[in-house]
Amino acid sequence: MIYLDQAASSFPKPPEVVQAMTEAITEYGANPGRGGHALSKRADDTIRRTREQLAAFFGFDLPDRVCFTSNATSALNQAIKGFPFVEGDHVLTTSFEHNSVRRPLEYMKKTTGIVIDYVNTGESEWFDLEAFKSNITDQTKMIVITHGSNLTGKKLPLDVIGAVARQKQIPFLVDASQTAGVLPIHMKEMNIDMLAFPGHKGLLGPQGTGVLIVGEGIELTPLHHGGTGSRSELIDQPDLLPERLESGTLNTPGIAGLLAGLEAVKRMGLDTISEHEDRLVSQLINGLKKIDFVHIYGPEHDRLGVVPFTIAGIDSQEIAIILDQHYNIAVRAGLHCTPLGHESIGTIEHGTVRLSVGPYNTKEEIEKVIRAIAQIVEGYFG
Ligand SMILES: Cc1ncc(COP(=O)(O)O)c(C=O)c1O
Repeated sequence: MIYLDQAASSFPKPPEVVQAMTEAITEYGANPGRGGHALSKRADDTIRRTREQLAAFFGFDLPDRVCFTSNATSALNQAIKGFPFVEGDHVLTTSFEHNSVRRPLEYMKKTTGIVIDYVNTGESEWFDLEAFKSNITDQTKMIVITHGSNLTGKKLPLDVIGAVARQKQIPFLVDASQTAGVLPIHMKEMNIDMLAFPGHKGLLGPQGTGVLIVGEGIELTPLHHGGTGSRSELIDQPDLLPERLESGTLNTPGIAGLLAGLEAVKRMGLDTISEHEDRLVSQLINGLKKIDFVHIYGPEHDRLGVVPFTIAGIDSQEIAIILDQHYNIAVRAGLHCTPLGHESIGTIEHGTVRLSVGPYNTKEEIEKVIRAIAQIVEGYFG
């Protein structure tokens, strides 16, 4: 099997992740923070260390404001639906947002009356800051952007957008689903107020893990209420983070796996990972460009490890099925949860086939994928 669906979930995981999760289950599978016994303390210690390591990795110095969720979607829901919006507040975002940003925003539009502007940030490397800025109004209460598009692989300049947000004193929420563990992110230097990301993609951790880092001064209403293992005498949810946003038992084995994934990423180094992915992407693009009827979307250079393409007039699902069943190549087809993005690049009707690479993919695999796509085109068009 050649796995090129890394943008959905990374696979395989480093062996240390499996080992850390097995250890958490077999050696200290107790409830963290709910008891003072040794096993509970060990579970709690893993969770505390993971918060500290994540805070340090993302240039943030308050580990207690690193809140665990079950995926990026739940982190983004908490950040958007928990934000103290009132009717008439304006949110500036892009047309390349995943549904896990767009749907909570649209929900807030219906229930609270916020106003949303989706700026089309385009397909090329170029980011038009002036056009983006021109949408800011006196009512803009949040800027939310996806750092790297899961559709086109386009990266947005967090530092530049963060500087604008800070200058205008607008809270800045970043969806780092495609970039955490791939590109450097420094919350303090980039003026990021809230950072949401999954543990199961670039950070090489298991599914069932996600994180919301909540900057100082941001007060969120919890989406869940319940046991926190602290201040149990209170009727209301405690004010303190992380408990305020973490009701119920945490996913200790998942978090142990996430810590091991993060350590593997640090050992490999972000530069090494992104240089490797860049090489595979160039190889893919150069190979696909030579095949008639194939159209590639997204920036020519400087993109994430994501390459979407279409084959003239053929439904993307059909191509993905052939790749899976005849060539044992796993890819993703369809709209990738970003329908507005597809409208922006003109692929809403048939979707795209998305090839996405990770640190364990090889150039030999990419060669085979290019050959398979050439054969598929040959089969259709002769
Ligand atoms: C840009 C982007 N945002 C959010 C998500 C949602 O992530 P999760 O599946 O962890 O909820 C994804 C997943 O593909 C994504 O690519």
